[in-house]
Amino acid sequence: PPLDEILNLHDFEAVARAVLTDKAWAYYSSASDDELAIRENSVWFLPRILRDVTSVDWSTTILGQKSSLPIYISATALGKLGHPDGELNLTRAAAKHGIIQMIPTLASCSFDEIVDAAQPNQPLFLQLYVNRDREVTKKYVQHAEKRGVKGLFITVDAPQLGRREKDMRMRFVDDGAGAKVQEGQSGVKKDQGIARAISSFIDPSLAWKDIPWFRSITKMPIILKGVASPQDAIMALEAGVQGIVLSNHGGRQLDNSRSGLENLVDIVAALKTRGPWPNPSFSVFIDGGVRRASDVLKALALGASAVGVGRGFLYAFSAYGQEGVEKAIEILRDEFEMNMRLLGCRNLSELGPDMVDASALHTH
Ligand code: FNR
Repeated sequence: PPLDEILNLHDFEAVARAVLTDKAWAYYSSASDDELAIRENSVWFLPRILRDVTSVDWSTTILGQKSSLPIYISATALGKLGHPDGELNLTRAAAKHGIIQMIPTLASCSFDEIVDAAQPNQPLFLQLYVNRDREVTKKYVQHAEKRGVKGLFITVDAPQLGRREKDMRMRFVDDGAGAKVQEGQSGVKKDQGIARAISSFIDPSLAWKDIPWFRSITKMPIILKGVASPQDAIMALEAGVQGIVLSNHGGRQLDNSRSGLENLVDIVAALKTRGPWPNPSFSVFIDGGVRRASDVLKALALGASAVGVGRGFLYAFSAYGQEGVEKAIEILRDEFEMNMRLLGCRNLSELGPDMVDASALHTH
């Protein structure tokens, strides 16, 4: 359908399913095992009334960088499976609309191609899979910092890639969509689907004791991506990193693990016992299943600073390239305007736990 018939992010998913190759659809949409970790949540709004919502403002800052929405583009590998311009669709749309893209280690385009496509001073984050050879990782991180990247998101929920059976049924064939950056470092096993074929360089020995080393090689804010437990959230705070992403990796890693939103309440409660809240030097992000501004507003009400979107933007560019991503951002922007007016919120700082009923979440 023409882009102006796309009304929401679910529409993009339906079109992506129709236009993607079977292999690309399997890689993008798959989750691990029984795919239980992608699921609905149940938080309800308690809107306020009579607050003069003529002008509403949903802009924010993320790790000190301006963002026109409380949303960043989360790292998703292998953008060229969906569209020949791959990740550049995201970079260009993010520039145009003032949002931040997290570049994946396993991008189809090289890191430098992506940074070169960005506008001067366009803020970018980097997602890091840590190599068994730490010198490779050190060079990569320091190069990213030199090129102006504003935040390092170290993925900590993937010491081994999940078994995504939908993906595994498609054999890996190197057709040029493969990641450039880590080329030659993965003993590619061609019978295990795309995810496993590209990821064997990832170091499963990564541990808390390595955090000071990361701190010593970069001044970028360090965020741990893929936290689920309140104990780990406290350990991250005490390890001196600048934030965490509550995420189950879009359901692609440990199946039967709760979503970021479901873990948010317990984790915020745990962090409150160890320091100021909100904490200006420690941000809590969530991702997973976000397709609507309302999903984002619920997370912000419960204490998240911003929310990551993965598949929502992937599906948008798979079907329509950069224009699709721009349209997805515009749709979300319109949803923020309407939802904030109806919630009685003029800016994001007016959102709080009193504006949602989260009692149907299983908290402790
Ligand atoms: C991902 N994700 C991911 N995360 C990461 O840290 N490194 C990576 O290389 C990838 N690659 C990747 C590929 C694809 C196809 C998907 C769908 C996801 C996880 C991603 O950053 C994020 O955590 C989830 O995608 C969020 O869920 P939604 O928005 O996709 O539902």
